[in-house]
Amino acid sequence: MKKCQAIILAAGSGTRMKSSLPKVAHEILGKAMANYVIDAVTGSGIDDVVLVTGYGCEIVEEKAGKRKVTIARQEHQRGTGDAVRSAMHCVKGGKKEILVLCGDAPLIRPQTLRKLVRLHRRQGATITMLTGVLEDPTGYGRVIRDPSGTIARIVEEKDASGEEKTINEVNSGSYIFDARFLSDNIDALVPDNVQKEYYLTDLVYRAFFDGKRVSGTLVPDAEEIVGINSRDELAFVAGVLSLRVTERLMNGGVTIEDPYNAYISPDVVIGADTVIEPGVIIRGETKIGKNVRVGAGSYIADSEIRQGAQILPYSVIQQATVGRGARVGPFAHLRPETVLMDDARIGNFVEVKKSRIGRGSKANHLAYVGDTTVGTMVNIGAGTITCNYDGIAKHQTVIKDGVFVGSDTQLVAPVTIGKGAVIGAGATVTDDVPAFALALSRAKQENILDWVVRKKPELIKKAGLKMPEKKRRKRG
Ligand code: UD1
Ligand code: CA
Repeated sequence: MKKCQAIILAAGSGTRMKSSLPKVAHEILGKAMANYVIDAVTGSGIDDVVLVTGYGCEIVEEKAGKRKVTIARQEHQRGTGDAVRSAMHCVKGGKKEILVLCGDAPLIRPQTLRKLVRLHRRQGATITMLTGVLEDPTGYGRVIRDPSGTIARIVEEKDASGEEKTINEVNSGSYIFDARFLSDNIDALVPDNVQKEYYLTDLVYRAFFDGKRVSGTLVPDAEEIVGINSRDELAFVAGVLSLRVTERLMNGGVTIEDPYNAYISPDVVIGADTVIEPGVIIRGETKIGKNVRVGAGSYIADSEIRQGAQILPYSVIQQATVGRGARVGPFAHLRPETVLMDDARIGNFVEVKKSRIGRGSKANHLAYVGDTTVGTMVNIGAGTITCNYDGIAKHQTVIKDGVFVGSDTQLVAPVTIGKGAVIGAGATVTDDVPAFALALSRAKQENILDWVVRKKPELIKKAGLKMPEKKRRKRG
């Protein structure tokens, strides 16, 4: 594929989306539309990719992220022909073929592109088009063939006659041009049509008129060429892509209990024998190991979940690492830069942020752990809060190995709890605790005997209790 360079058209605003965001920047399963096309091209073995941006170019370019593309800016969006013209200065000498694709048709597969290139070479064509037969061709350019069946020209929906509109064979928007032909003819396009745009498709007639070979191939699975022009089509394509992802994962040994009710980004990796319960969302560059269980309704983004971990229902995990055999949830929240070491447990209504929880340590109920380093085999009681923020800056808490933090404790950072120490329930810890010490910070308890009998006898009656017979000492 060394002799082939690709140009992806992604400069249009996408008026029909009614959006302030450029169309190709809209995300499908958490990945920008144009990025699917870039990845398909790269996946087909073509390394030189030019991305034409224009409307909202910064957004589209930023979303392309670390993908290797050359950016060509199209200043005014005057049509697909003008878009290709704006990219011509990026075409490298020595390239024989230019593959042109639309950034708004993300279902295209790498193997289809490889086939297209092979066909183009075999037939020695000037243009090779990918076409498709659609039940409803509305909106697409129609393929007009001459009596011998050769592709003669493309007519856009808006320029088509009533009869032409009945043609079901459409232009997919993916084609290969002979590089020489493209550079010799791209400047000759004229905006002589209803939309007053420079149509790239006019080059088809140019080649045909000059007696050059225009070949075409029908895509077997017409779904693959669907272009997105509206929110409606966006949702349709999202459904198709989602099933592609779940199918691939299931083929790799993952159980997806309800593939129609799972939302998994295409770049997610999941190991065999992992079970994904219904209603799960997994986004970004998440990696999940083998034998993991992801409970119903959980949301996981850009995280790593290692082998054998259990994510119980309705947990939210973002930019975090969950160690082997660890257990999270139900209803747990792991925020960015959280690392759970192997066999750690984070239970219901526990929020962890920017913290490392050591091997086998637990915070099972109702706690906030932030900016904290927790050692191994630590128990963090229900209702424990690390007070990491003083209104101005964030401070660190360090809890060493084997510490027992009693329930309802506040750890006012910066503070360090030494190895093996015990913190009595209800403490407000403002000073460091030495290793193996007991830290207590609460008022001594006082019981006032028979207070209720004397002061609130109506409560005893209301509760249906019997009045105690003899009055006892007043204080004890
Ligand atoms: C285009 C084709 C049509 C084909 C359809 C397939 C032309 C004239 N028509 O129509 O035959 O059936 O795609 O989906 O080529 N773009 C730019 N700069 C521009 C205009 C568009 O970069 O000035 C980009 C858009 O961002 C988009 C792609 O080119 O990704 C296609 O543009 P769009 O306006 O959607 O073309 P269609 O009307 O769908
Ligand atoms: Ca389109």
